[in-house]
Amino acid sequence: MSEAIAAELCAAIGAAHVTAGAQVAERYRRDIMGKYEAAPAFLVQPVSTGEVSAIVRIAARHGLPITVIGGQTGTVGGAVPADGGIALSLERMNRIEEIDTVSMAMTLEAGCILQLAQEAAEAQGAFLPLDLGSRGSATIGGTIGANAGGNRVLRWGMMREMVTGLEVVLADGTVVSSLTKAIKDNAGYNWKQLLIGSEGTLGIVTRAVLRLRPNPLTNQTALVAVSSFDKVIRLLRDLEVRLGGQLSSFELMWGDFYEAMTAAQLPARPRPMPTGHPFYVLVERLGGDPEGDFSQFERLLAAALEDGAIDDAVIAQSERERQALWAVREDMVRGIAAFRPFTVYDVSMALANMPRFVADARARVEGGFPGARMIFYGHAGDGNLHIIIHVGPDGQRHEQAVERLIYEAVRAVGGSIAAEHGIGQSRRQFIGMTRSDEELELMRRLKAALDPQSILNPGKVLPPA
Ligand code: LAC
Ligand code: ZN
Repeated sequence: MSEAIAAELCAAIGAAHVTAGAQVAERYRRDIMGKYEAAPAFLVQPVSTGEVSAIVRIAARHGLPITVIGGQTGTVGGAVPADGGIALSLERMNRIEEIDTVSMAMTLEAGCILQLAQEAAEAQGAFLPLDLGSRGSATIGGTIGANAGGNRVLRWGMMREMVTGLEVVLADGTVVSSLTKAIKDNAGYNWKQLLIGSEGTLGIVTRAVLRLRPNPLTNQTALVAVSSFDKVIRLLRDLEVRLGGQLSSFELMWGDFYEAMTAAQLPARPRPMPTGHPFYVLVERLGGDPEGDFSQFERLLAAALEDGAIDDAVIAQSERERQALWAVREDMVRGIAAFRPFTVYDVSMALANMPRFVADARARVEGGFPGARMIFYGHAGDGNLHIIIHVGPDGQRHEQAVERLIYEAVRAVGGSIAAEHGIGQSRRQFIGMTRSDEELELMRRLKAALDPQSILNPGKVLPPA
């Protein structure tokens, strides 16, 4: 049976691009969290949408699960293939087909790495706003499938806001292509938005058109210490208006996050400011006035310091210093090691509810697991919090119990259990905690309509039956 399928796949895309299960490298079988390890029957590496369609037709004929593999930087097991299924990698489909600086649009294949797309746009004087810590390995297809967020959502939105055109292969192999550069399109249902963020369960994205912006001319970056959450919010609103809508990042770190990360980073770089403040915010403005932006930014922070709105500020004076400030937030590998085994949470809520949520989540977890270590950080401008939690050396055993405690606290403030990382497989049994039965039923109907055999990334997103 599996030899017959192998022969069909080889005939469709060439034997050189079909790998049998036992030979499939680890990076195709697990994601960055390493929580699940799959045994797919095949890895296939097509080079065109036509080949993807041919593969899907074969999978549909045999009822074989098919999961698209990107950079494997997801955290919820969303791109871990099914045992005995097909792992489909688009890494050979990584071409940037066009950068149109008149219409400000970029047409590219889904296997392109995000950072390469950013750099290609920049080389043409254009700007692709999507940015996240895993830019060096995340793929465009993965960021569309996950509706990625990241560091600049506050100003330019999530991936959803950047996609104007999409080409997808449906579960029966049909290719639907609408590679438009038009920003406005109200001609009927917006099927593209349905596909974006569907984690590979409704269709396979093969190509896209992304909206670009003119390249900003200046950047100013600062690390700011703030004494209370109320002041954090006042600072956010103040910078939003005073920077003329050019505030691009507002990354909040609770004091314990700052302390843990900068301590672990000490061999690589000094602490930009002392520990001990309740909150630290990494602020970035991307602007358009090379003469005035820096002094205005400096003046604003000086005035904030003067009137007690903030307690300390370090402004980057060079690109090197800018990178060092960003590293406090992004260079987490060393810092996180002390928390192993850990789980990373990704929740959202109205900003007004955030302090209550944090206090409640802490109380619940520490009540159930005395000695637990928790650090809070996130994209505060978007109401998106990340939490890293370590409850002990046998943390994995308690993961679901801890998860439930956190999601109960999220539910109590009317938030979401998945702000930007999605549901994947690790959260599917919890999706009903912040989605109603009617919402889940609607999702099931959409899934059944588009993928009646359930071959597209099965076992993800929707709760187990
Ligand atoms: C971050 C990832 C966890 O923002 O989303 O660091
Ligand atoms: Zn994030």
